[in-house]
Amino acid sequence: MTVWIGTSWKMNKTVSEAQRYTRTLLAGLDGRELGTVQPFIIPPATALSAVAGILAGDRRVLLGAQNAHWEDDGAWTGEVSVPQVADAGARLVEIGHSERREHFGENDETVRLKVAAVLRHGLTPLLCIGESAEVKDAGRSPEFIVGQASRALEGLSGEELARVLIAYEPVWAIGAAGRPAGPRELAEPFSALADSWGHRVAGLLYGGSVAPENAAALLEIPHVNGLFIGRAAWQAQGYLTLLDIAANTINQELRTS
Ligand code: PGA
Repeated sequence: MTVWIGTSWKMNKTVSEAQRYTRTLLAGLDGRELGTVQPFIIPPATALSAVAGILAGDRRVLLGAQNAHWEDDGAWTGEVSVPQVADAGARLVEIGHSERREHFGENDETVRLKVAAVLRHGLTPLLCIGESAEVKDAGRSPEFIVGQASRALEGLSGEELARVLIAYEPVWAIGAAGRPAGPRELAEPFSALADSWGHRVAGLLYGGSVAPENAAALLEIPHVNGLFIGRAAWQAQGYLTLLDIAANTINQELRTS
């Protein structure tokens, strides 16, 4: 099974920094044996086409966008559409990250419309879901994230669902202010997610303070088949380290199974 290991650079990197990162990444991938690991990188929109130019169709790395509007075009100042990010080279679109939900008014309905738009244009949606610390403390994490996923994926056909990736990213575990989650406390949410959606989508990823120290343990949580990384992969070498850890973890699992 494909193991998805990707990074969003959020609002970081100029075009030349993004190009440098991509060149270092491609050079680092030469001679590495990644097995079923599928890398993906999600630059800011301003750097998409420049990064696509460096990738030049290299199939080893999937290129993604951090957001796209649900309409194809029109009077939506400041937004970019799915056809536009596809034109710039993206094949995957991240939808509903908690920072977009918190700061930019994204809600279940806009997330649902955006997931549908990404699918309509033949790209891969990476749907982000996750609960706040309050919801976790109330013991409602599993039902909350399953509800979020269900509202985002409502009405999709089996064929469409099979193209969706879901990243479970607890809000309390994300970013510099976040607390790294322990594999134990993630087991129940992932099991609930897998029961409802795991067998119908392309993959369930974990995100939030992923680092070289915890990556292997996170990948060993049942039903997790990928990691979505921020800070620890903002330097190409850090990302390559995490790709190696993922490839080694999978190899070990294969050997022991
Ligand atoms: P982080 O970000 O790895 O820096 O915590 C994760 C994310 O927001 O997806």
